[in-house]
Amino acid sequence: MNDASMSAEMTANLSKSLDFDQAAKPKVVAKDVNVFYGEKQALFDVSIDIVEKSVTAFIGPSGCGKSTFLRCINRMNDTIEGCVVKGGISLDGDDIYAPSLDVVELRARVGMVFQKPNPFPKSIYENVSYGPRIHGLARGKTELDEIVESSLKRAGLWEEVKDRLNEPGTGLSGGQQQRLCIARAIAVSPEVILMDEPCSALDPIATARIEELIDELRANFTIIIVTHSMQQAARVSQRTAFFHLGILVELGATEQIFTNPSDKRTQDYITGRFG
Ligand SMILES: Nc1ncnc2c1ncn2[C@@H]1O[C@H](COP(=O)(O)OP(=O)(O)OP(=O)(O)O)[C@@H](O)[C@H]1O
Ligand SMILES: [Mg+2]
Repeated sequence: MNDASMSAEMTANLSKSLDFDQAAKPKVVAKDVNVFYGEKQALFDVSIDIVEKSVTAFIGPSGCGKSTFLRCINRMNDTIEGCVVKGGISLDGDDIYAPSLDVVELRARVGMVFQKPNPFPKSIYENVSYGPRIHGLARGKTELDEIVESSLKRAGLWEEVKDRLNEPGTGLSGGQQQRLCIARAIAVSPEVILMDEPCSALDPIATARIEELIDELRANFTIIIVTHSMQQAARVSQRTAFFHLGILVELGATEQIFTNPSDKRTQDYITGRFG
């Protein structure tokens, strides 16, 4: 290869990587996060950038701190007695642990979907309208109706429930309930959605539906999903973070993590040697 073609190739590669970097805007930035439950330390110096409008999967053996770290991002650990979070986490550059920060507002910006679908014991309509109502996002009934309809549509549930909006959310199937919880989460227009094993209580068909939905939602939201399923992480995420014993061992493009991990612990986990 002569100098000219080499430099052309290098320029092409460089601009490709710059393109990637520019596209990969960090939405959530964590720096040296340490979490303690009383005396016990659950996370050690976790630093990570979460890229906006993409799906990041958190994987790792049970007890390695995935849920603990997820809960740091919307300050849900505040509700756990004896839990202390140290280090810094920012959302679009705003320090989410700043004393002046309004936690209720933060949780509207960073929504959460849990392992077990947990609709309120209220109607389908009220499950979705509650958040927008308490956050004052609608100016009247018509606007609220619109938010409910568009949220249910985006969650892929509208067609199934449009004629029974006043029936209890708890009367839906498990997969429908989880889509209702996703509709409830997106109704307040969050920027980030945290999902802690959202499919583990669902059958394969309902799981496939949620995975499709996650893929659609990433056009507009930054999504972090904790999963025990490597297949799921590979199917839905663009980036994967592997945690082990409270340490973030490795973060990379999902394909790289699953085909060419750089750490032996990651390799052992993805090949099923432990976990
Ligand atoms: N409320 C709590 N009080 C005390 N210790 C806790 C609490 N929640 C979690 N822990 C401990 O912190 C560590 C990390 O737990 P965490 O739930 O974050 O793990 P995880 O990776 O989500 O596991 P799993 O895959 O089983 O959900 C574990 O040792 C756990 O026992
Ligand atoms: Mg967990």
